[in-house]
Amino acid sequence: MELPLTKIVIAIDGHSSCGKSTIAREIARKLNYIFIDSGAMYRAVTLYCLRNQIINSGIVDRDKLIAHIDSIKVYFRLNPQTQHNDIWLNGENVEDEIRLLEVSQNVSPVAAVAEVRHLLVSLQKQMGLQKGIVMDGRDIGTVVFPEAELKLFMTAQPDVRAQRRFDELTAKGETVSYEEIRENIIGRDRYDETRDESPLRKAADAIVLDNSYMTRDEQLEWVMNIIARI
Ligand code: CDP
Repeated sequence: MELPLTKIVIAIDGHSSCGKSTIAREIARKLNYIFIDSGAMYRAVTLYCLRNQIINSGIVDRDKLIAHIDSIKVYFRLNPQTQHNDIWLNGENVEDEIRLLEVSQNVSPVAAVAEVRHLLVSLQKQMGLQKGIVMDGRDIGTVVFPEAELKLFMTAQPDVRAQRRFDELTAKGETVSYEEIRENIIGRDRYDETRDESPLRKAADAIVLDNSYMTRDEQLEWVMNIIARI
């Protein structure tokens, strides 16, 4: 298979829990590119908000968040054991904690705050300057890298996504109910699609991948064939 000789930018957007990060990581490994999970950055800011009583009962104290924004340092560091880029928040590796359902249940209102988006989008743009990057999120093809050479929009049926996330969290030992996960996924999609600031939207030039009935290997093959034709 012929792969692009010059480094490109690959933007992957789509609905919650449809395996964007998994496929993005695999593409990056195949191409020897950097993989960035932009959702991890929004989750880390949310964790900061939960710890500092900036979000209470699902309501974000916007003024308090803006007052704290310069104290929120979010960055990636290579984990030598896993070879993954883990997310760090103010000197602490929070890769595991940001995946808790409590963070998923509070992230969308935090991610809707314009000041949070400006901060994180500017960091994300810097990461893409050298190209050779696969980034997944909600606004990557529309806002962060509108010039990306390849844009994918991923989705899958809500029940399939809920089951996958349920399996993932229970495998980690978290006690969660399938119903609350399904509710969270559907609620987050709705919130992300209807917010004023960079709503989740398929870029006009994005290719849709519905992976409801595809294995990971089938998805990877499908994407690598597209990349080979760029
Ligand atoms: O893994 P999952 O698909 O469930 O979500 P995620 O990619 O970790 O993103 C968590 C949340 O962060 C999303 O529901 C959005 O509210 C927000 N997000 C965003 O607004 N923009 C991005 N580029 C990435 C995530």
